[in-house]
Amino acid sequence: MRILITGANGFVGQHVVAELANRGHEVYACMRNKAGAFQTPVKNLIFDLSDRSMLFDVIERSRPEGIIHLAAQSIVKEAWHDPITTLHINTEYTLALIEAAIRFVPRAKVITVGSGEEYGLTGKLGEPLSEEHACQPQNPYATSKLAAGQLAMQVAHREQLNVIHVRPFNHFGPGQSEGFVISDFASQIARIENEKSSSVIRVGDLSARRDFTDVRDVVDAYVRLMEAEVSSGVYNVCSGIPVTIREVLDFFISHSKIPVEIQTDPSRLRKSEVPLFVGASHKLNRATGWKPTRKFEDSLFETLEWWRRK
Ligand code: GDD
Repeated sequence: MRILITGANGFVGQHVVAELANRGHEVYACMRNKAGAFQTPVKNLIFDLSDRSMLFDVIERSRPEGIIHLAAQSIVKEAWHDPITTLHINTEYTLALIEAAIRFVPRAKVITVGSGEEYGLTGKLGEPLSEEHACQPQNPYATSKLAAGQLAMQVAHREQLNVIHVRPFNHFGPGQSEGFVISDFASQIARIENEKSSSVIRVGDLSARRDFTDVRDVVDAYVRLMEAEVSSGVYNVCSGIPVTIREVLDFFISHSKIPVEIQTDPSRLRKSEVPLFVGASHKLNRATGWKPTRKFEDSLFETLEWWRRK
């Protein structure tokens, strides 16, 4: 297939592009800057999604059969800091892409990337969240992703465009930047070991429970959804296993080469914290046969090793 990826040089994008290219797809990698541009045969397209006419031009020229829209502002803390920009990036660019697809490639399949965060307070129920559960987003990031997905589905439904809105729960792995809990912890441990900082690890709320999946399993879900015949709709991508942030921290501390002291950093505490997110991925499994394959501890360790090498 000819597949166009936005946010291609981001954390998830790099893994998606590599996997699609490996599987013999023709890949158009869209990114804002050249950093991390891919080698041939992947085609790099450097432009900013805020340039609507450029976006339309790119879709018209490349005529993708599939689009995976990964470009986003995806850090929850940053969304609190600047909600308008987060809303703007996450909703407007999604809509522009959908409109471009409708105009030039109405038979394409479009995967828009939302978030398990869209369920928000419903997570408190404590039961695995399926696509039928109501969404009660609790932060501007989650609201922006819910709005983006709804807008995409509304327009797509009216125009009969095949849109798959995925809701990945927390994902991580080698290559993820700081700002997310696992990379925040792993990077600090690596710096402490290198004696580049004091032996204090700064943490936020350790009581929250999240549903983590290795990024490579998440990418496998996206690729399966792209390749299989799948009807439009929302699909969760998650492990179904809740883990406390405390357990994640304990893992890193037990694998640290030197003793570390834990300190709560008030700037890492959230204004509005959802205590528990756990998802159900039966719909995805039924549609594509997907199941996560990687062991959580192995992925944590690999992530730590990646930060040690960095
Ligand atoms: N980032 C971060 N850093 N989070 C911390 C820290 C820390 O030092 N200490 C504790 N936490 C807690 C947060 O308060 C939250 O409860 C949990 O760890 C996970 O935080 P994040 O990794 O920032 O993820 P998130 O759950 O807010 O959002 C992530 O998951 C979504 C999918 O469910 C992001 O990856 C989103 O982009 C994604 O859509």
